[in-house]
Amino acid sequence: MSRNAAEIAAEQLAFWNGPGGQGWLASYGRIERAIAEVGAVALAAAAARPGEQAIDIGCGTGGTTAALAKAVAPDGHVLGVDISQALIDHARAQNVANASFAVGDAAVHPFDGAHHDLVFSRFGVMFFAEPIVAFRNIRRALKSTGRLVLLVWRPAQENPWATVPVRAAQPFLPPQPRPPEDVGQFSFGDRARVEHILAEAGFGVPRFEPVDRPIWMGASVADVLAGAGRFGPLARAFAGAEPAAIEKAKQAIGEAIAAHERADGVHLPGACWLVTARPTAG
Ligand SMILES: C[S@@+](CC[C@H](N)C(=O)[O-])C[C@H]1O[C@@H](n2cnc3c(N)ncnc32)[C@H](O)[C@@H]1O
Repeated sequence: MSRNAAEIAAEQLAFWNGPGGQGWLASYGRIERAIAEVGAVALAAAAARPGEQAIDIGCGTGGTTAALAKAVAPDGHVLGVDISQALIDHARAQNVANASFAVGDAAVHPFDGAHHDLVFSRFGVMFFAEPIVAFRNIRRALKSTGRLVLLVWRPAQENPWATVPVRAAQPFLPPQPRPPEDVGQFSFGDRARVEHILAEAGFGVPRFEPVDRPIWMGASVADVLAGAGRFGPLARAFAGAEPAAIEKAKQAIGEAIAAHERADGVHLPGACWLVTARPTAG
């Protein structure tokens, strides 16, 4: 691993075992509701069947692991792998009979080789320092007949749920470093890049299906503002800002999202790729 990749891996490890994991847990109920609908599309596409062996990459608190475990029961099994100890602790506490969990980097985790029917991930594969290396490791875990089912975000500009609050708040908050494009939330948005990663890792031509759904941001504008800054780019920006600046930022966010408030909450457009692929022979 080059020094740069080692640094990126260390940053991700620190983030998901520090503010990232804590922020995810603090916002857990909200996030789960926000991504439940797009996640359900991915779980349906995975079509896990009784008796299958599956892996859930970057499983977080294990919501999708539990859903897969139910689908493969009673004889199948799901392994949830995540780099965050805190999130795996939460996942384990669910006590799902036919699921087990491992704390580890999926890029190097020693999966049982050629053993799994399905590798699934809901937004858990965009954080690898060296994605080709990581997907080679994941590929080795699959049977030759196995399948890969990934849900990833399309580029930021197609995801107003992520960009609108940040853009509105930015003028009032300390400037933040531009996030890297090749690791992080939107790093699998570029279809050609994902095709290249998977081809190099030993997968056949992937299928990309757009999944466009409104993303639930909160029950009301006030509710969105109450949760703002707990997780994601706003958490970093709020951490370095004065309380008065945070108030102004929140007011600006409220104005930017007001038109999206309905009786069933505030929704902004979200755009994902559902990526499915199979290993190439050999
Ligand atoms: C956006 S969250 C998604 C969590 C979960 N899949 C869900 O949908 O609720 C990304 C997850 O990937 C995990 N992660 C990041 N890098 C990882 C790595 N190299 N190996 C395993 N998990 C990783 C993080 O700890 C985090 O739980």
